[in-house]
Amino acid sequence: MSEAKTHSVNLSPSDYIIIGGTGDLALRKIFPALFWRYLDGQVTSEYRIAAASRREIGSDEFATKLRPFCEDALADGHASEADWQGFLALITILTLDAKSGDGADQLTDFITARANADRPTIFYLAIAPSLFGDATRLLKSAGLVTPQARLVVEKPLGHDGASSRAINAELAEIFDETQIYRIDHYLGKETVQNLMALRFANVIFETQWNNSHIDHVQITVAETVGVDNRADYYDAYGAVRDMVQNHLLQLVCLVAMEPPSFFNADQVRDEKLRVLRAIRPIEAEDIVCGQYQEYATALGHQSNTETFVAMKLAVDNWRWAGVPFYIRTGKKLARRASEIVITFKQRPHDIFQRNGGGDIDSPPNRLIIRLQPREGLRLQLISKEPGPGGMRLFPSELNLSFDDTFDSRLPDAYERLLMDTARGNQTLFMRRDEVFAAWDIIDPVIKMIRDRAPELYRSGTMGPADNLLGDDGREWVDPHED
Ligand code: BG6
Repeated sequence: MSEAKTHSVNLSPSDYIIIGGTGDLALRKIFPALFWRYLDGQVTSEYRIAAASRREIGSDEFATKLRPFCEDALADGHASEADWQGFLALITILTLDAKSGDGADQLTDFITARANADRPTIFYLAIAPSLFGDATRLLKSAGLVTPQARLVVEKPLGHDGASSRAINAELAEIFDETQIYRIDHYLGKETVQNLMALRFANVIFETQWNNSHIDHVQITVAETVGVDNRADYYDAYGAVRDMVQNHLLQLVCLVAMEPPSFFNADQVRDEKLRVLRAIRPIEAEDIVCGQYQEYATALGHQSNTETFVAMKLAVDNWRWAGVPFYIRTGKKLARRASEIVITFKQRPHDIFQRNGGGDIDSPPNRLIIRLQPREGLRLQLISKEPGPGGMRLFPSELNLSFDDTFDSRLPDAYERLLMDTARGNQTLFMRRDEVFAAWDIIDPVIKMIRDRAPELYRSGTMGPADNLLGDDGREWVDPHED
């Protein structure tokens, strides 16, 4: 079993039913995450896992399909062949057509065959949202929507506010909100959770965390990949819907939210909702859209879809009045890196200036929270250069790398989120009103950019949004080269 176990808590066993169990999401994310949890001993042999797929598939074929996605655990010695076989033994393959209902009996037999009827049953819809209605009605008519049942869904939950409300209304006909787990995988990332620890388990930052001390906030989620084999989905969606409506707005919420009274699902989500509702309608001139140069050629036709977007947001409340939040995300950028940069205000007066050693233009203090890769925190300070040669100042950094600090592997976001569904903890999942509030911000943006030709940018650059900050006398802090 795993040599570098992550610290985990024992949970009472659950049943996972992955509908769409041989699809891309299941193979790339869900099963590998369950495998790691198995290796860490959190998913035990008492768990039961079903991969329900429309096409009939044998267990050997399934194992062959899945293996490449679990290879990193197998290759680096974390897992033995016996571990792999032990994990496969937990998985039952079912044939199920969510649309026609064929195979529902098999699913019911699988679920009712368990020894303990009270254990959580987690239905993960790893299928297109257009099938959510059929799938949930099927579960209902098969009598499987019991109080122990939980439903996991994932974006795209609609392409605008209206379609999102329609999909969520379909889910709400069958499942109670307390049973629905809407995944935004950014919330499962270790450093994203650490942001809450940083803010609310320490006092030193909270006293500075407001418009008296912070000049502005930047959030960058940069990717080097293009849209590759997801071109059809992506061209209909674009960066605003694919990344901003969910991941980036969630990051804004975690930076900007007030401390909840308790760390529980509804208190945290209430505070995030307040931030979303405080975001001022975004002006057209505060949005920059870009498209990487090769995009249209690879797609085969001209398109206005943005593969890059940057925006300036204002959070209208006492804490954040006057502090812009600049966010940007894009494909085919210079490097894969996600960072939140908190830039503090310049010191009001420079006592060193007359000594010739200080420089009023020296960089302000910054807290840089690196979400990925090489997760960690950096605090940029001004220090004195060592030596007797007067008061020479230079920018220095306090560096806390989580990689170096913790010797266990940082688990993938899906591992945490899947275990939270078993635990029944909705803190890191989006509540329906949050999703709608995010669409209320994004719907007008989509209307504004629909007919706008995005600016073309060269792959390997950081996109075309320098003026968004330049016009305010600021500049982007590009993520470090690693
Ligand atoms: C997904 C988007 O939600 O997040 C993808 O659909 C994007 O387009 C991905 O590539 C980025 O996730 P991560 O975890 O690699 O930062």
